[in-house]
Amino acid sequence: MNPMRDLLLAASRSAWLRDRAMRAPFVRRAARRFMPGERLDDALDAAAALRPAGMPSILTCLGENVTRPEEAAAVAAHYLEAFDSAAARGLDVEISVKLTQLGLDLGQDLAAGHVATLAERAARHRSRLWIDMEDSSCTDATLAVYHALRPAHPTLGICLQAYLRRTEEDLESLLPLAPAVRIVKGAYREPPEKAFPRKADVDESFFRLGARLLSPGAVAAGAWTVAGTHDPILIGRLQAHAASAGLPRDAFEFDLLYGIRRDLQQNLARDGWRVRILISYGSSWFPWYMRRLAERPANLWFVARGLLSG
Ligand code: FDA
Repeated sequence: MNPMRDLLLAASRSAWLRDRAMRAPFVRRAARRFMPGERLDDALDAAAALRPAGMPSILTCLGENVTRPEEAAAVAAHYLEAFDSAAARGLDVEISVKLTQLGLDLGQDLAAGHVATLAERAARHRSRLWIDMEDSSCTDATLAVYHALRPAHPTLGICLQAYLRRTEEDLESLLPLAPAVRIVKGAYREPPEKAFPRKADVDESFFRLGARLLSPGAVAAGAWTVAGTHDPILIGRLQAHAASAGLPRDAFEFDLLYGIRRDLQQNLARDGWRVRILISYGSSWFPWYMRRLAERPANLWFVARGLLSG
């Protein structure tokens, strides 16, 4: 258990704190460490700047839990524009969406309809659409949408969280679909009945999921593996595992977040591993930023430094 992590994750859901923190210049300055700006153009500029280092991008426009169908439609329209704008600039860009941002709370079919439209656009641009995994109240619906849509949309990927006890079984149920899976540790506040409380267990689960996805049967069947992590030990274990299984370096991909462990990002790309950087942008950054602080409470120091430097 980590009380500071719990506190920050609880704070991420506070509208009162959100409204005050987002207006504070020192918080805005600190958040810029992890996001290039609020506009799509800021994200595309950042993607263009990463290209020379051999690192393509994934874009995600921050926001979650919309409450009106028009909002969900506007988010979907924004992402269609993002696919088109990236292609017009010749950028290798994928997109990652949250189902609650596409109307999941208003109905699974509504969100699924938007995902299908976006997946079609991704295919047109030879790109990929990813579905993020949100808190455990969304896991069943997210998997159901993926199961329903993946057969007709080969470029659709899904994120699975290693901290959930159920994930190993969920992965088995996905494998017959030849899925594209991004494994992450998991960023939400979950009870111990649902998620492993110990970091060592989460790390082990991550490795097991990665090894399963990289097993000969899964690779031959067309599964695509992405390891979404900045954990150098886990990255090293997966690299060693892939080497011992005779897999080439481009058989899977490491995805990291913009602004986190830039040294590691560059070293991986320089050493010939596939690396993609997830760039977040948009005006609804508060809950997302609090989750980044919760991952590493030492980041609070950057907030404090911004306050002290005026
Ligand atoms: P860990 O937390 O052990 O960190 C390893 C090292 O990375 C740390 O020692 C530190 O050096 C560095 N680091 C990690 N986080 C940092 C931070 N915030 N600030 C500074 N340094 C940091 N989660 C989720 O629930 N659903 C999702 O859909 C996604 N999607 C997603 C996509 C991609 C591409 C990534 C990289 C991550 C996600 N996540 C996510 C977030 C994920 O669940 C997890 O919270 C973070 O990746 C942090 O965990 P690490 O694997 O990096 O390990």
